[in-house]
Amino acid sequence: MKKIFAANWKLYKTPQQARDFFAAFNSKIEQLQLSSAQTEIVVFPSAFALEATILAAKQNAKIGAQNCYIKGEGAFTGENSAQVAKDLGASYILVGHSERRALFAEQDIFLADKVAYVQSLGLTAMLCIGETLEQRESNKTNAVLFEQLRLGLSKAQKNLVVAYEPVWAIGTGKVATTEQVAETHAAVAQMLSDLGFSGTPILYGGSVKPDNAAGLIQQKNVSGFLIGGASLEADSFLKIIELAK
Ligand code: PGA
Repeated sequence: MKKIFAANWKLYKTPQQARDFFAAFNSKIEQLQLSSAQTEIVVFPSAFALEATILAAKQNAKIGAQNCYIKGEGAFTGENSAQVAKDLGASYILVGHSERRALFAEQDIFLADKVAYVQSLGLTAMLCIGETLEQRESNKTNAVLFEQLRLGLSKAQKNLVVAYEPVWAIGTGKVATTEQVAETHAAVAQMLSDLGFSGTPILYGGSVKPDNAAGLIQQKNVSGFLIGGASLEADSFLKIIELAK
């Protein structure tokens, strides 16, 4: 099954830094000669660096925006348009990252509209889900994930990727164990199937690094990674991508 390696650059990298990244990345990824049938690379830069990143990536990565509004145009000062991202050449939009949920109070029903809008444009929505440490410790993980999927996908069609990112593992250096990942991905795969989205790729995210990625990628139901910190340097992102070989 195809593996997806997605870089979430969050609010890092200027356009020049994005160009510098791809100056190092492009020749090395071309040397790896990965087949696009087996590997997909996606980079999510911040909004103002989107166009520079698309141009710098050439054909070596698909590019996505980290967020968008539920409409393509209108009187929505300060929002970002998925239609504009598409016109610039983006093919993915990240929806419902835990930082959007926690810092910008994004709710599942709002995210459902984003997923539907993104897909209506023919773009792929990458819906992020994940439980907090408190929820995991009180055995609510599966209930929380199911609600996030049930509501977030209530208006969804196709062109979907799900990223499972336990909130307690994001940016903390605390990666989930291979057992936790295997168990939770199996549960998420079953939930997606129950909701009518069987076969949807499920990425793991949360402190993925070159030294822990090998064990995780082998787990059944892990279709790839959504990588924050370790995707900012071309070399560490490439070391993780090389696992696809
Ligand atoms: P991290 O971030 O790899 O730095 O933990 C992952 C994410 O937020 O998508």
